[in-house]
Amino acid sequence: MLAIGGGAGAALLVSHGWRATLQAEPQAPVRHDHTTSLTASSSPPFTAFAARMPVIPELAPVLRTRTTDYYRLRVQNQNMEILPGFQTPVLTFGGSLPGPTIRTRVGRRVRVSVENSSQGGTNVHLHGAYVAAEHDGHPMDTIASGASRVYEYPNAQQGCTLWYHDHSHHTEAEQVYRGLHGVYIIDDPAERTLGLPSGQYDVPITLRDALFDAGGNMLWGGNPAERDVILANGKPVPHFPVAARKYRLRFVNGATERMFHLSLAGGEEMVQIGTDGGLLPAPVPRTGITIGSAERVEVVVDFGKYPVGTQLVLNDVLGPVMRFDVTHTAPDPSRVPATLRALPVMPNATVTRNIELSFDMTGTMPLGLMDGKPFDPARVDIQIKRGATEIWNIHNADLQLGGIKHTFHMHLVQFEVLSRGGLPPTLDDRGRKDTVYVHPGETVQVKAHFDTEYLGKYLYHCHFLEHSSLGMMAQMEIIP
Ligand code: C2O
Ligand code: CU
Ligand code: CU
Repeated sequence: MLAIGGGAGAALLVSHGWRATLQAEPQAPVRHDHTTSLTASSSPPFTAFAARMPVIPELAPVLRTRTTDYYRLRVQNQNMEILPGFQTPVLTFGGSLPGPTIRTRVGRRVRVSVENSSQGGTNVHLHGAYVAAEHDGHPMDTIASGASRVYEYPNAQQGCTLWYHDHSHHTEAEQVYRGLHGVYIIDDPAERTLGLPSGQYDVPITLRDALFDAGGNMLWGGNPAERDVILANGKPVPHFPVAARKYRLRFVNGATERMFHLSLAGGEEMVQIGTDGGLLPAPVPRTGITIGSAERVEVVVDFGKYPVGTQLVLNDVLGPVMRFDVTHTAPDPSRVPATLRALPVMPNATVTRNIELSFDMTGTMPLGLMDGKPFDPARVDIQIKRGATEIWNIHNADLQLGGIKHTFHMHLVQFEVLSRGGLPPTLDDRGRKDTVYVHPGETVQVKAHFDTEYLGKYLYHCHFLEHSSLGMMAQMEIIP
């Protein structure tokens, strides 16, 4: 009887299961029918705020020269305690989850030698970086198991919070989910005069989600909306002891397919100072911040407003993300000046393009489309003249299944959001961005200056990595 029931359910899953996997927006209740409940599961329980959030150690260079820092990073399979009492098989850069933070500064060259000790192919893409095409981690340009290669990054861009992750064709979503992601910070010495919190008071926090089975294994392939454990720097809904003073917090949404809607309990204020491409022109007080997959948000929170002993929860709409525990006092010479930096001025645009993200649901598997076509690494979808400034109207055509969200990402350059749904950009859209969420039916208009010394092929795609791995990705070629 059970076997028959299971078989019938499995058949239904083929027709319905994948639809549920596309409904990742946590605010929209997932329609559970009895077929999807076959795969539905919930992770083993754990106590919220019991774990302490680690600050991920910075990777030390193996060699420094006058111009260049050399790093070594190994991709490896290993076990790690994520939920208390369980050893979870993960895939890591350098043995930690997230991988070690690489911190460099504007104008200094970085060379990272990546050795792939894992069983499958992988590669490294530095998300948001200005980088030569051969070092961009193209999906077809992978490091075979047992092989290694060197990536070179010029860091010739504004100070910013980037992140590095696997970008191997069709496997990027699963391998990032299993742990192949880390933070990369470019410090700008010019920022030092601003007096923002620094040193131990400048903390990158990677947020993501996961679903675990009863044995503590990370489950892959189900409905992303069922990933019920939020990890902050790899720990489930942890606490983080802070001093009663200002902190610079760099949030990275490292989830493969999830929006975070962040707010502090009681509507306490976070002052946003930065986004994907670095500092905003001026700080913006926020009480709620939406951050789509791959987006970054930098805030300053002044824990000095609260007495020692205060516990301040950071929430998502679905529940707590982590808790800041004010445990001690500390001097605070830092400040948030009224002006942070002037954004580079872009020339007037001379080219306008319409870009459409959608799914083709007519087959047995959903097919991700960019302008009606699934990704083909052998095809160049658009050519862009080096130096051009372009306006892209990015449209999400997916009104089906109650609407499917997308996050649009462009490699190589940082863009400016001009409008959203015909209205002025929201607070989430400010500054220079490389990734922007696009609601179903919405058009987000962005402007980019392809002011690059590099030529060659770069990607643009949906950064819900399940979508890009299903084909929602395309190539632009920068030409002379
Ligand atoms: Cu975060 Cu094409 O990448
Ligand atoms: Cu990228
Ligand atoms: Cu998408």
